[in-house]
Amino acid sequence: MGILHTNAFSPLDFWIPATIVTIVIKTALTTLLCFFCLAIFSAVHADTPLELSMKKMGKAYKQLALDLKQPQDASKADYLALTATLKTEAQTARGLVPKKVANLYPESRDAMVKDYQKSIDDLGVSIDALSQAIQNSKWDEANKQLVALKQKMIDGHKAFRKKE
Ligand code: HEM
Repeated sequence: MGILHTNAFSPLDFWIPATIVTIVIKTALTTLLCFFCLAIFSAVHADTPLELSMKKMGKAYKQLALDLKQPQDASKADYLALTATLKTEAQTARGLVPKKVANLYPESRDAMVKDYQKSIDDLGVSIDALSQAIQNSKWDEANKQLVALKQKMIDGHKAFRKKE
């Protein structure tokens, strides 16, 4: 007498959940690997303190350049807050050294650091003149100082920024 196994599992019943489990595990592992690579990449490319200061300067400068296209007396305090950021970050930057300096021989390194500090000091003079002009609502003068500031940025980057 034969027994009929009508309720027996077919191999297909195991195959489907097993495939789903494999897909889930593979996806999880791939995601983990991506996060790991991202963490390594971020660590290698982390901003230096000078880059962070420069970024803050860049943001303040952009906002100010935009604002001073149509200056409003009522917004003077906002503009002065932006020049204050420029000044603070320039002071911070003065105490730091550009990446470009790292691989130089000591004599050239010292000379470049001195030049760099002098350029940052010049930048400070322009920032002071800019805030003075804003304080006195001399908008043409303020825009002139902004142009001078931009030129110092271009020159400073040409001389001291490493080509990556
Ligand atoms: C208002 C003027 C300036 C602004 C808005 C400005 C802005 C910036 C910005 C946005 C960066 C890129 C940061 C990054 O890649 O994360 C940068 C980098 C840099 N800037 Fe300026 N900058 C100014 C003036 C100057 C001056 C006058 C000097 C030099 C005397 C200078 C030296 C550098 C250097 C060396 C770097 C590369 C960072 C490093 O090598 O460690 N910057 N700057």
